[in-house]
Amino acid sequence: MTDSRHTDAPEAFLENVRDLLGSDSVLTGDIISAYERDWTGRWTGAARAVVRPRDAAEVAALVRLARRFTVTLIPRGGGTGLVGGAVPSSEGTDVMVCMSRMKDLSIDPIAGTALLGAGVTLSELNAAAATHGLRFAVDLGSRDSASVCGMVATNAGGLRMLRWGDTAAQILGAEVVTGRGDVLTHLRGLTKDNVGVRWHQILPGSEGTLAIICRVLVRLVPIPAAVAWAWFPAVDARDAVRIASAARRNVGVSAVEYVHPEGLALVAALSGRRPPLPGAAVIIEASARSPERAVDALSELATDLDSHDAVVADGPAGRDLWAWRDRHTESIARVGIPAKCDVAVPLTQWAAFHDAVPVALTAVDPELYAVRFGHIADGNLHINVLRRDGQAPSERADAAVWDLAVSCGGTVSAEHGIGVAKTPWLSLVRTPAELAAIEQIRRAWDPDNILSPRTARIPE
Ligand code: MLT
Ligand code: ZN
Repeated sequence: MTDSRHTDAPEAFLENVRDLLGSDSVLTGDIISAYERDWTGRWTGAARAVVRPRDAAEVAALVRLARRFTVTLIPRGGGTGLVGGAVPSSEGTDVMVCMSRMKDLSIDPIAGTALLGAGVTLSELNAAAATHGLRFAVDLGSRDSASVCGMVATNAGGLRMLRWGDTAAQILGAEVVTGRGDVLTHLRGLTKDNVGVRWHQILPGSEGTLAIICRVLVRLVPIPAAVAWAWFPAVDARDAVRIASAARRNVGVSAVEYVHPEGLALVAALSGRRPPLPGAAVIIEASARSPERAVDALSELATDLDSHDAVVADGPAGRDLWAWRDRHTESIARVGIPAKCDVAVPLTQWAAFHDAVPVALTAVDPELYAVRFGHIADGNLHINVLRRDGQAPSERADAAVWDLAVSCGGTVSAEHGIGVAKTPWLSLVRTPAELAAIEQIRRAWDPDNILSPRTARIPE
């Protein structure tokens, strides 16, 4: 591959973009610094410009120009990804594609679906869907900024995956522009449409490497009539697995989340409050037809588990319990730049893995410590590695966590994706044949390698 994109990004490219899309569609200078870092601050770069197309036709024009001038494009949604997938390289030549102008949104309450543009956030979709008693199935802490199309590109998992599946499970169709500059549109709105290869299902997890997602058609789910929450104290990690395993069999349960005192202390510092009980806990969300039934379901679970100290609540008191989990990510960001190690291991290995993490990190560097929390019923544990001096940990910290996870039968990404953060470790969890097959797909969809070329690709 010639490296012309890494020399001068042609000014002629931007001139052509201005001619086609209008000069207000191209941003340069200090104003674009917000597009040059990821949410955590661990991944930064320098962009040549930010382009803000209005629809798929403009994206197609942009991609064709990028091919002509060999310019790298990095699509960026809400910028809430945690693996540096939407950050430019440090060379100052990449052009960011900002999707925020694509705000069209319509709900079909009869079919229970939504058609939305790439600028629509999860909260905006949910606000519109709520007027019909519906919502998007996948939920996550960054709901006010995360775009739904970005969630598709990264195949976000989030808090309710146990009940409704990941983002891939919600997609019924899409409109995209491939790296060839072709517009592919599959938005017929049918829930069943089994006509050969479901090309739109290749998008989840593609992280902007195959195509730029402009619109998606997604299924919606009913908002439950009533919700309650419970705080189950866990004496240790094995006890947490015991609770989670019982909870995941209960049909009304929609989220099962693990919290540990190391993270609860950070949330306490942010909120100025004390957790309801000391020690680690599993926080469970359950829904039912009435508040009484939701509370009863959780109380029965507590009885079955001999968990006599469990705290069960609905309404504001229940939401307070949930906030202890929901506020972890922002609380961690206050104390330093974390290495976001998003691990999944088989539940049978979860407790051993959980307990081994601090030992493995201290062996690398005594300054390191971990905040462990997350979606335990999915075998998912978020290891946020921090340094006591607040500086970003080196990649040796990530490596220690990945080696441990893989030795426990786990993976280097449960739900956050690969981005640039995890490319060095891709071969721990994918065979050479798998990586070669993925590369062939990339070359077919993006022959000139202009879309997010560094994402999820092992450096040569
Ligand atoms: C979450 O579940 O809150 C995020 O995916 C985890 C994180 O911030 O590491
Ligand atoms: Zn998560």
